[in-house]
Amino acid sequence: MPDKIRVLFVGDVIGRPGRRALNLHLPALVEKYSPSIIIGNGENAAGGIGITEDVCRELFGKFDVITSGNHIWDKKEGIECLKREPRLLRPANYPDRNPGMGAYVCEVNGGIKVGVLNLQGRVFMEPLECPFRAADESLENLRMQTNVIIVDFHAEATSEKQALGWYLDGKVSAVIGTHTHVQTADEKILPEGTAYLTDAGMTGGYNSVIGIKKEQAIQRFLTSRPHRFEPAKGRLILSAVYLEIDIHSGKALRIKTENLIGNSSEE
Ligand code: FE2
Repeated sequence: MPDKIRVLFVGDVIGRPGRRALNLHLPALVEKYSPSIIIGNGENAAGGIGITEDVCRELFGKFDVITSGNHIWDKKEGIECLKREPRLLRPANYPDRNPGMGAYVCEVNGGIKVGVLNLQGRVFMEPLECPFRAADESLENLRMQTNVIIVDFHAEATSEKQALGWYLDGKVSAVIGTHTHVQTADEKILPEGTAYLTDAGMTGGYNSVIGIKKEQAIQRFLTSRPHRFEPAKGRLILSAVYLEIDIHSGKALRIKTENLIGNSSEE
C-alpha cells in the first residue's frame, strides 16, 4: 500500500460550459497527477444553478464524490439525487430534516479510506447551524474511520474560511473553500498539517462574471433588477487544487493549485 494518497479537488462546475471544461482539461490533470480520488463541487453544474439526475450521472463519470452548497436545493431533481446518492453531498450544517448527508467515506487504492465533509458558511449567506460545531460533530464519526479527511467549506467570507482552516488544523487533511468562483493564491500547509486554500475557483466560461455571461451580470448591476443568468460560453477554465496526503497521519504533504484555460471544439 502506498504511504501517500493523491487527491484532486475541482472548483465549482458551472453549467454545460463547465462540463465541457472538464472534458477539455481534466484529462491533462489526470495524466499529470494520477489522482487516487477526484472530488468536485457540482452545485451549479446544471444550467448554472442546481444539479439534475443526468448531470449527476455525467459528473460521476469523472468525480468520485460531488460536494455542493446553497444551490443544491434549486432544482427538484437535485433533491431527489441527494435522497438516493450518498456520494452527492450537501453541507452538513443544514437542518437534519433535509434530505442528503454532509459527509461520505470513499475507499480508494484498494482500501484507503478518504472522508469528504461538506460545510457551508454563515457570513453573507443564509442562517444555518454553526459550521464549526457541525465539523466537530461530523469529525467524531469520520475520524473513527480514517485520518484522511477533505473538507469543502462553501462560504463567502475569507475570514470565516480562514478561521475554519485554523480551527480544523491538525484535525483534517485539507480545508478547501468554494462558492466565490475565483481561485485564491493563498494555498499553504498550516503548522499542524492541514492543507488550506480559501477558494478553489470555478470550472466554466473564462470570459465571464463568476461563470455567468458578463452582459447579464452587468445589466443586473446597472438596473438593480433580477436578470436571467446563463453560463458563459467561449474560452473555458478549469480551476482545481492537487493534494498529497500521508495516509497514516492524515497530514498534508503538498498542495498545488491548477488553472487550465483554452478553447473547446465541443458544441
Ligand atoms: Fe454557492
